[in-house]
Amino acid sequence: MDIAILRLIHIAAGALWVGGVYTFFLFVQPTGMALGPDGQRFTYHLIHNRRFSVVLLATATTTVLAGILLLWITSGGLRTDVLFDASRLGYTVGGVAGILTLGLGGLYVFPRTLVVERTMGAFLNDARPPTDEERQTLMRAGGEARSAGRWVLVGLAIAVFCMATASYWSLVL
Ligand code: HEM
Repeated sequence: MDIAILRLIHIAAGALWVGGVYTFFLFVQPTGMALGPDGQRFTYHLIHNRRFSVVLLATATTTVLAGILLLWITSGGLRTDVLFDASRLGYTVGGVAGILTLGLGGLYVFPRTLVVERTMGAFLNDARPPTDEERQTLMRAGGEARSAGRWVLVGLAIAVFCMATASYWSLVL
């Protein structure tokens, strides 16, 4: 595949991933929580009907796969002297941050959004309030996803910083 198209896919998917995660954790989720039962219906619609977490995971996976391919191509097959050269180091550090962030998001946060979706679906579809057990499940899964979400924000900030500045690292290193 032409490297320009790969870069386009990588950057477009990365913009959606970072923009989606920041907008969700800083604005959408706090709003959903502030609105009580209406907020639960809103959150359920977002993750169940609009498939928000699945779409986000797909953009993250696309970004990382395209990034790994770019890294492979631009480093002559992951040659360590190229990966750690000052002119390419920013992409390597940013790439590792992006891969770890996908790992945390995909293996820890995403499964918890599935628990939230399943639990909310059970009582919203029955048009009844949540049981105590469902309330506790929501609190636990939601709380764990929010805590890990902070680290996802940090990981993405590091990846964006490195990607955006990588071409200047050789001026200071
Ligand atoms: C949050 C995730 C990411 C975002 C927002 C992002 C964004 C970007 C942007 C904007 C560029 C263009 C930089 C420039 O031309 O100066 C770029 C380039 C690049 N990215 Fe990423 N990236 C992300 C994750 C990754 C990952 C996980 C990898 C690899 C594992 C990676 C590998 C690369 C490489 C190798 C380039 C340079 C391509 C070239 O020299 O043509 N990126 N990225």
